[in-house]
Amino acid sequence: MRTQVAIVGAGPSGLLLGQLLHLAGIEAVVLERHTGEYVLGRIRAGVLEQVCVDLLDAAGVGARMHREGLVHGGIEMLVAGRRHRIDMHRLTGGKNVTVYGQTELTRDLMEARSATGLTTLYEAADVSVHDFDGATPQVRYRHGGREHRLDCDFIAGCDGFHGVCRASVPRGAIAEYEKVYPFGWLGLLADTPPVSDELIYVNSPRGFALCSMRSRTRSRYYLQVPLTDKVEAWSDDAFWHELRARLDDAGRARLATGASLEKSIAPLRSFVAEPLRFGRLFLAGDAGHIVPPTGAKGLNLAATDVKYLANALIEFYRERSEAGIDHYSARCLRRIWRAERFSWWFTSLMHRFPENGPIGEKFQHAELDYLLHSEAGQRTIAENYVGLPLDFGEAASAHGSAG
Ligand code: APR
Ligand code: PHB
Repeated sequence: MRTQVAIVGAGPSGLLLGQLLHLAGIEAVVLERHTGEYVLGRIRAGVLEQVCVDLLDAAGVGARMHREGLVHGGIEMLVAGRRHRIDMHRLTGGKNVTVYGQTELTRDLMEARSATGLTTLYEAADVSVHDFDGATPQVRYRHGGREHRLDCDFIAGCDGFHGVCRASVPRGAIAEYEKVYPFGWLGLLADTPPVSDELIYVNSPRGFALCSMRSRTRSRYYLQVPLTDKVEAWSDDAFWHELRARLDDAGRARLATGASLEKSIAPLRSFVAEPLRFGRLFLAGDAGHIVPPTGAKGLNLAATDVKYLANALIEFYRERSEAGIDHYSARCLRRIWRAERFSWWFTSLMHRFPENGPIGEKFQHAELDYLLHSEAGQRTIAENYVGLPLDFGEAASAHGSAG
């Protein structure tokens, strides 16, 4: 079999890339290790920056997101028992975020792909990538009990943090930057109305908590927990009890509890691979970088990587120019490092770090006190939360910065 672009991974990155290439008349085959149901079963953050919303619209998959997504102009921060609203809309000159579950977005992308009759090979086993340092890369895999070979011009590694693409790059050709945090997030999904109309990020003496949502009738909550905790040891009652203890009186009064639909513990990690291109292999989304979820930047970064990659490939096929693919990695990495820094900082600001001692806690509270009582401080949070414009890299390069 032959195609122009072989895409490994049918998460949001791989599917969005497939859609953007299809709209530009470029052929792609998507190979996915798991089933479609498995991919849809993963619960992940769903806060979309305006740039991401615009991209989904341009990809022709925005209709349901506009119908069902919730537009938020602010977030709440609950610190030392007091609420502070960050009015993002006002502080950023009119920007908002859209709350729309990643599962729903993935489903929309899957449906768009099957509606146009495009190939996604689910349950593709033993995917391996070859000869991407030359002009004729190939992908090999097993499907339906047989070995297959896919010849292509380019390989897009959209296969997440544990994927095969990054792992296939020669060790010396890649630098990896990583930080693992000393705690995890215990998440619970329930069909209960959210405790607030906006997200609440909580810094409590008992640890971080987050009150989020998927819709007006479905809530998503998180608790900072030790990495040694096992999800089986957390009953629903224990979860609600602990969440209550981390909220304020107004939150406790409004909190509606119910049976969990899903409960899991996720570790927190900051990770970046540099560069994101090796010959004709490109990494996009979680394959190239991970952020801790505080601030929900993961999906947004994945979407902008994919946009830059689609543009670069379109430029290659239409104009026979390699300028876009040569610039891909640096262009993505500027944006990635900005979001990595914000996600690390917001995590540091809102969680308990007992290893930093009592003075660490005092520093954290003094920083929060400054930020929450200063217009400039609030704007810092707001600007980062709503995200950077798509042409951020271009504007910075035009002013002579590296990149
Ligand atoms: N062969 C085929 N498919 C693979 C392989 C492999 N060897 N390894 C991984 N995959 C598939 C996974 O099963 C998964 O469906 O690649 C897909 C990667 O999807 P995601 O992990 O969702 O990554 P991505 O599409 O980049 O999405 C990024 O997900 O984790 C969040 O915060 C992150 O929101 C961001 C988004
Ligand atoms: C979520 O709804 O899952 C979510 C929202 C915001 C975050 C992280 C996760 O910062």
